[in-house]
Amino acid sequence: MTTLLKNCTLANKLNVNITITDGTITAIGNQTKADKIIDIKGKTVLPGIIDSHVHFREPGGEQKEDWLTGSMAAVAGGVTTVIDMPNNDPPITDLATLNKKRKLTKKSLVNFGFFFGATTNNIEEVRKVSGIAGIKIYVGSSTGNLLVAQDDDIKKLMEIPNINWVIHAEDEELIRKNSQQISENSNSAIHSQIRNRQVAMKGVERVIDLAKETNARIHICHISTAEEVSLIKKAKNANLQITCEVSPHHLFLNDGAYEKFGNFVKVNPPLRTKKDNEALLKGLNDGIIDIIATDHAPHTIKEKETPYHDAPAGIPEVQTSLPLMLNEVNKGTITIEQLIEIMSAQPAKLFSLQNKGLIAEGYDADITVVDMDKKQIINKEMLLSKCGWSPYENMKITGWPVMTFVNGNLVYDQGKINQQFKGREITYGKI
Ligand code: NCD
Ligand code: ZN
Ligand code: ZN
Ligand code: ZN
Repeated sequence: MTTLLKNCTLANKLNVNITITDGTITAIGNQTKADKIIDIKGKTVLPGIIDSHVHFREPGGEQKEDWLTGSMAAVAGGVTTVIDMPNNDPPITDLATLNKKRKLTKKSLVNFGFFFGATTNNIEEVRKVSGIAGIKIYVGSSTGNLLVAQDDDIKKLMEIPNINWVIHAEDEELIRKNSQQISENSNSAIHSQIRNRQVAMKGVERVIDLAKETNARIHICHISTAEEVSLIKKAKNANLQITCEVSPHHLFLNDGAYEKFGNFVKVNPPLRTKKDNEALLKGLNDGIIDIIATDHAPHTIKEKETPYHDAPAGIPEVQTSLPLMLNEVNKGTITIEQLIEIMSAQPAKLFSLQNKGLIAEGYDADITVVDMDKKQIINKEMLLSKCGWSPYENMKITGWPVMTFVNGNLVYDQGKINQQFKGREITYGKI
């Protein structure tokens, strides 16, 4: 079965037709014949967005999200592949639990992969596991109970060769010290004091030192400060195998948001300053920050409305990250070519995803069609995550995904979702 996407505009402005055969891109050019023809009407086509940091909450957090609702939000946001974090309940720290989680993804409309969690005593499982995107180490605590806070334990792990270590790098000791010294009140802004910028800097500094000692390949999750950009730049210049990501909330929200949103913007690492927003955007532009990954971390409105101490940390993001970035392209802060690099091509490379991240012959037909001129305000009604809220509600965005093809199937078409097509587990090349 062949499908022709007729009249597509590529990022380089070339107008082409794209032939898809059984889920794979098989021709790009001026060919006109196919079993089925879909008119793209000159709109811009991007390689499907790859979000390498999501929490779709199954198993254990089904009141917040599940693989169907999370993947619906993803396709509506132009995302065709997600990699899911292991801080489930139970956590994904042994092979049997990973295989149970694999069964829950049957509902997923997007392609998916997994990170496996490291603990202080599952090193044998970490050695054995395969078919995953990397091993997650929580150097500082976050949602869930995964934590490997001691240098010795981290080092023992990092000595295992050929693993992409994916790290939540906040310093646990400093978090605990700050929590004791700062008395809690009802103002959520203290989250940015308890987990202050030193917490993130020290976390990153420590794992860089450990990576130096062990020659490990590390990926730092959700960097939030100007100082981390500098630390990572220095490490890259010293030829360490290090990459990093930034999440939309650290680009577009800052500590000014607590007043309006309270615990709804409580997130680990916390929101910083406007200056940090700018430094992170510059880090992206300079190529020091490799990718955008959303850290889509839904929690229910009810959970978020509890007092500071009890409210869980995390913000839903998977549906809004591409619109927010298309809006930046329209503002001229980044180019569409850069957007493709940081949201699709680089994530595919970093996690060795086979045949993804490019619109090219032989690649999977994961394709996101965007209307660069479409103006729309983000509203509650359009949000598909089960949690049902977003800190970006009421924001006016220019540039929206309008069609999302997953494995050649039109799963999202201008507000409508076709649930008949399911995603599949991604396959990996060598790291
Ligand atoms: C994440 C979650 O809720 O799972 N929360 C968050 O604040 N970022 C966990 C994490 O990514 O650290
Ligand atoms: Zn994290
Ligand atoms: Zn996360
Ligand atoms: Zn507390």
